[in-house]
Amino acid sequence: MKLFIDTGSVAEVEEIAAWGVLSGATTNPTLLAQESGDPGERIRRICELVGGPVSAEVVADDPETMIAQGHALAALHEHVIVKVPFGAAGLQATRALTDDGIGVNMTLVFSPSQALLCAEAGARYISCFMGRLDDVSIDSAEVLTGIVDALRPCGSSTVWMDGSAQVLAASIRHPAHVVTAARRRCEVATVPGKVLRQMLGHPLTSSGIERFNADWESIPALGEWLSALVAGEPAIAAA
Ligand code: E4P
Repeated sequence: MKLFIDTGSVAEVEEIAAWGVLSGATTNPTLLAQESGDPGERIRRICELVGGPVSAEVVADDPETMIAQGHALAALHEHVIVKVPFGAAGLQATRALTDDGIGVNMTLVFSPSQALLCAEAGARYISCFMGRLDDVSIDSAEVLTGIVDALRPCGSSTVWMDGSAQVLAASIRHPAHVVTAARRRCEVATVPGKVLRQMLGHPLTSSGIERFNADWESIPALGEWLSALVAGEPAIAAA
């Protein structure tokens, strides 16, 4: 499963892209409204930083405006994927944008039947919101399984190779959501920076590093040996 970052913040993408784990990003109107500066410049910068698909969302109710906004957003950068809210107008816009060669991420999808319509309209990504489902006591893991099974009835492991839609787990609230999305065979999870940072932590990792460092530093010659090695200097016996 690929990891995208769910954010409108360039600084956050700069920080986490440096880890080498991001394949793309998603934004939404709420996330972009939380930051200052020209949104187009921010979307372009995020595209450069992640070097992969970056979703930018249309904000309209009618298909004609969605299509016009979608073309304008796609023109910002070759990595832009146009995010379109689910609904009859969104499906119409998705079909038109897809036919024009523009990748679409259909968002606010909460059921397998909605996902089937997204796939038929040509969406490249189908965003199922885990956290918002759990908020209303609907088991997001069950819904994800339903969507994945509906789109891959023969149990194929991935679908995009044949041009079908990829399931994108969104509205991720904690690391367990990310693991659930992977285990339910989603192609992508888009994860807020806060949750990506939480995924780093484990008390045994911290205590293990502390112990390795303390043991190494207890013999100063070992540190001198490693510094010399890094500097390409002749070997020093680390007795
Ligand atoms: C997905 O692309 C959305 O931007 C996002 O995951 C929504 O998450 P929220 O429910 O935390 O707002």
